[in-house]
Amino acid sequence: MELIILKLGGSVICDKSKPFSIRRRVLRRIANEISKFLKEEPEKKLIIIHGGGSFGHYAVQEYLSLKGILDLEALVNVERIMLELSTTLADYFIDAGIPISILTTHSLVMIDDERELIINTRYIEQFLRMGVVPMMYGDLIISSKGSIKVVSGDTLAWELAYRLKANKLLFATSVDGVYSSKPEFPNAILLNELSLSSMINKVTYSETSVYDVTGGMFRKLIEGIGKIRPSMKVYIFNGLRAGEIYRALKDRPLKGTVIKP
Ligand code: IPE
Repeated sequence: MELIILKLGGSVICDKSKPFSIRRRVLRRIANEISKFLKEEPEKKLIIIHGGGSFGHYAVQEYLSLKGILDLEALVNVERIMLELSTTLADYFIDAGIPISILTTHSLVMIDDERELIINTRYIEQFLRMGVVPMMYGDLIISSKGSIKVVSGDTLAWELAYRLKANKLLFATSVDGVYSSKPEFPNAILLNELSLSSMINKVTYSETSVYDVTGGMFRKLIEGIGKIRPSMKVYIFNGLRAGEIYRALKDRPLKGTVIKP
């Protein structure tokens, strides 16, 4: 079974500068790209994971600035807001013919004492066997110690890719890939390939290393350490560019960074 995991970044599906704003035109296009791919290659298995965008991030920030902690009120409300975002995505995807089933992250994932994720992967695998495209997302989850934590879609994507031995892990972001410095800097160079092990050495030895990526991108990469397998293709690319998600699903995007162990 060939498995692809596609993480749709929050800044691809939402306008992160405005609370609760969805990029509807982009979603329609992405739905068509995924649908076209699945019609051409129906034997391929796909899991979609999306970020919090201007829904989850905004709501979590509101609760943290208001109360300083994530309590039960935050838990139920952020879960509700994220499910609302996911349902909106599912509307576009199902209308385009993609057999989506939303697997609410908070009911399938928990954190244990060692801060390891407990994930019901058997359930996900059964959905895949039955031809469903499971969709999960960054969410608030509970821990066995009774605390409430944010689990990002990136963490989930790496974890599932590792545990389910995915063949391909695709990160659709709002930039062309990993840059040598912040993408907005004039001397920033797009890296065609990046090895996670060499990145760590560079970062450890020099604060001002060439791998001075943005916080979000840096975290995305760090999370891959120990989760990437040599047989796993990992691409970070621009999901806002028309056709890139389709090309990444088929083979590889026009532009982007290939991540290696
Ligand atoms: C965040 O998920 C989830 C919540 C804030 C509840 P991500 O960290 O994957 O979201 P994006 O992709 O950065 O928006």
